[in-house]
Amino acid sequence: MLFTVIFYTSLFVFLLGLIYKVSTWFSLEIGVASKNFTISERISAAARGILGVIFSPKILILVKVFILDVVLQRRILKEDFLRWIMHMLIFTGFMMLLLMHAFDSFITTPLFDEYYSTLNPFLFLRNFFGIMVLAGLMIAVYRRFILKVPRLRTSPMDYYAIIILTVIMISGILLEGIKITSYTEFRNMVKNYSALDEEEEILALEKLWVKDFGLVSPNVKDPIDPTIIPLSKELHNMHCADCHSSTEWAIIGYPAARLLKPIALRLDRLGCVNAFWYIHFLACFIGLAYLPFSKMFHVIASPVSLLANAVMDKDKSFPANIATRQAMELDACTHCGTCSLTCSVAVAFDKTGNLNILPSEKLVFLKTYASGKDLKKNELKAIQEGIYLCTNCDRCTVVCPVGINLRELWFNVREDLIQKGNPIPLVLSPFSFYRGLNQQKLESDNYSNPISIIKDAIADKCELMKNPDEVISLTPINKKFKEKVDLSYQATTYSCCFSCQNCSTVCPVVGNYENPQEALGLLPHQIMRSVGLGLKDLAFGSKMLWDCVTCYQCQEHCPQGVKVTDILYELKNLAIKESFNNE
Ligand code: HEC
Ligand code: SF4
Ligand code: SF4
Ligand code: SF4
Ligand code: SF4
Repeated sequence: MLFTVIFYTSLFVFLLGLIYKVSTWFSLEIGVASKNFTISERISAAARGILGVIFSPKILILVKVFILDVVLQRRILKEDFLRWIMHMLIFTGFMMLLLMHAFDSFITTPLFDEYYSTLNPFLFLRNFFGIMVLAGLMIAVYRRFILKVPRLRTSPMDYYAIIILTVIMISGILLEGIKITSYTEFRNMVKNYSALDEEEEILALEKLWVKDFGLVSPNVKDPIDPTIIPLSKELHNMHCADCHSSTEWAIIGYPAARLLKPIALRLDRLGCVNAFWYIHFLACFIGLAYLPFSKMFHVIASPVSLLANAVMDKDKSFPANIATRQAMELDACTHCGTCSLTCSVAVAFDKTGNLNILPSEKLVFLKTYASGKDLKKNELKAIQEGIYLCTNCDRCTVVCPVGINLRELWFNVREDLIQKGNPIPLVLSPFSFYRGLNQQKLESDNYSNPISIIKDAIADKCELMKNPDEVISLTPINKKFKEKVDLSYQATTYSCCFSCQNCSTVCPVVGNYENPQEALGLLPHQIMRSVGLGLKDLAFGSKMLWDCVTCYQCQEHCPQGVKVTDILYELKNLAIKESFNNE
């Protein structure tokens, strides 16, 4: 009775959670692109989109993606073989246990006339799937804590997922082990399934079960007398064999029973079968009820996201559906860290330790951001650093096993932050190029507003050069931005700069300041960008140029081979030369 109440309560909580989570897919707004739609517009756009796919040849794409990416998890295989093995073991093992064992009364029993959980092949398969999940969990722990995959962060949610699965599995195995040894279970079975009432016959059967089935009985001390074996076998075949394969087929439950043998009688007397039964079922129910709110929700969200991404076209789909898909993608992330491993600016994280630089962690922040929670100034600052440290290289999107379109997400949030009046010098940030490409998608006011602010700021900086007290500058004012900088051949490597910001990240001078932008004017990568844009005066006017200690850190860390230090050095000389020419 109590059990039924708990079961239905957890099922109810699960369904409620599911409905709530799915409803957030239609209500969360991530950045500028999603602001223009109401919830009902998004729901009806999704319904139209789904119907449009189902009744079109695109359905074939869905089938293909379902088989290759959802069932066979091809995307994980491409990235990391060990991880694929781990995920396949846990995923396949757990799904089979769920369908065959947990839901046996709905699935296995109707399908197979002769289903008994203690009969092969079910007995063996249940144990086999259990071993699969356990092996997968061990690999997961090995990867996280022993192999220590770089930049793979373990959040409380990751711990939860590993712990709940482990508790479910271990309690299940112990439960099976204890049941195999349990004298009480044996007596109940004899009472329920055989008409035996002569103690002698029962003892004969009991002895066989002790010898062959792992039973631990207080009555049987000596090895079985060979003369009674025929009787024991006959009784067993008559009353028990129809439902019982040899317990040795329980390839993990049986060894557990052997291990527990020395304490089995005491456990049985203490009623541990019941205790483990409750632990096992409670863990399952907690797992079920909490699933929509935990990392395990990805078992639902990830397939949906993969399928949606497969049939959606970023340029042709309804914008409302794109907004919905992006909200869904937040739930689909499994926090696997693959994106962070390949991110082209992740070295900056190794240097600064700001988690928001890693795409896998940026996504976590995005959830908070999308939920509209107020952020503290410090948090916002760390987030801005993270969100701007991105070269739009798209590597994260390409490798994400769930197919999350990360670059789109970053774009939306960065644009949103800009519209909220954020002062990052836009034309000098790696964002500018990508933003230019997305110009059509933005309202023209939104697009030009930050650019004009930044143009004014740049002009201001050039004005400031008049006043050497404020910014150390050796050049006269020059507002002609277009003029090319006259650098040596070797220093023209600046044109290879793709604004990863690595140079600024590793620079010890930059690292010295709380607010380097304010103290130094421009950071090394921005100087490279200014040179690239021909903004000579801007480069000359930056205090950074004169504070550089020529340590060559930046140059050594540049993935593009830009001679950052040499360029800075040459710029200094040029600035001095120009100032003399103008005197
Ligand atoms: C109608 C089928 C059926 C018959 C007949 C039957 N059992 Fe069982 N028995 C089961 C099932 C099913 C379980 C598992 C019960 C559960 O999961 O709660 C089980 C469990 C047990 C267990 C606990 C260990 C375990 O593997 O779960 C013992 C011991 C056992 N039976 C002994 C016997 C003996 C001895 C006989 C013959 C007198 C017998 N059973 C006859 C179906 C049967
Ligand atoms: S697009 Fe940005 S976040 Fe993604 S891998 Fe490239 S730099 Fe990293
Ligand atoms: S965004 Fe994709 S690759 Fe990155 S942690 Fe999430 S699921 Fe993994
Ligand atoms: S050479 Fe200059 S700009 Fe480069 S890291 Fe060193 S101090 Fe910074
Ligand atoms: S100069 Fe090199 S390290 Fe600096 S932003 Fe450009 S590409 Fe990156």
